[in-house]
Amino acid sequence: MTPRPSERRPRLRQRSRRLWLPLSITAFLLALVSLDASAAVLRHANAIGRRCSPAEASPGGGHLKPRIAIVSLSDDGESIAGSVAGGRRRSSSFKGLMETVEGNKRKYAARMGYDFIDARGLLDRSRPPSWSKILAVRSHLRYYDWVFWNDADTLVTNPDVSLESILFGVIGHGDFDVSPDLIVTEDFNGVNAGVFFVRRSEWSERFLDTWWNQTSFVQFGSTKSGDNAALKHLLGRLPSEESRAHVGVAPSQCLFNSYPWLPTWKSAYRLISSPWTTWKGAYSDGDFMVHLAGLDDKKRWIANILQDLVEKSVGHAI
Ligand SMILES: *[C@@H]1O[C@H](CO)[C@@H](O)[C@H](O)[C@H]1NC(C)=O
Repeated sequence: MTPRPSERRPRLRQRSRRLWLPLSITAFLLALVSLDASAAVLRHANAIGRRCSPAEASPGGGHLKPRIAIVSLSDDGESIAGSVAGGRRRSSSFKGLMETVEGNKRKYAARMGYDFIDARGLLDRSRPPSWSKILAVRSHLRYYDWVFWNDADTLVTNPDVSLESILFGVIGHGDFDVSPDLIVTEDFNGVNAGVFFVRRSEWSERFLDTWWNQTSFVQFGSTKSGDNAALKHLLGRLPSEESRAHVGVAPSQCLFNSYPWLPTWKSAYRLISSPWTTWKGAYSDGDFMVHLAGLDDKKRWIANILQDLVEKSVGHAI
């Protein structure tokens, strides 16, 4: 005798309820595995054919070597980065950061014939510390052809890459006197103010002054301090002709501002929503510079990356 429908349905429902749990656990585990797989693939992006620069850059060719300063800034152990300002918990993870990255930068600069400048004396305490990068760049620009600004949560991860080759990769030729004045990278949010180049010129000086003057963007007590938003605002407002002449955007973020890709749901969402941006910006072995933008526990990150570089025997120059 076949059971009446009223008797069968509850059993079916029970069975599907029993299936629901293992199925969702399986889906969850699969997603976890593919997060880890994505992280592994992105970490080896360069080995599987990603190019951060259009040319295997060798500027060379009779031009004078430009005078370049790498400038960074820290506030008595509380180092500067776009996302430090305010937020006790966050800024505490910045404590002592400069000390852990300074050796790396100095060694690279000495090897390549650049100056490294810790501009902490220029800190303006009336604003979140991140804003002082503008003052730091502005005041050292007059002594150099180029200033390369680094937030303190960055490390040189491939010391064989020269800054000239990076400039070459953006400008497309080796005559650095005929070049955009501001060289930046773009991430998911557009232009990033954590790492950039400025060329000594009247345009640059005026631009930096204008940037500093964007006081309405100054933000206290948030993870953002407003300097990056102000930069984006100014660049967005430039007439296209001026923008073309004075602002150079790196063809790939990984040319000099790579972010570690963490297997998190947020990263997964970004990977799906903007795969190309993720691909071009994820930190991979061989990249010139890693930037721990928005990450907590930066000191541990830095220790791990340095250790990793030593093990891969890039360490001799790190
Ligand atoms: C910036 O503000 C100062 C003080 O208000 C002003 O003197 C200067 O001309 C401004 N500079 C630019 C480039 O806007």
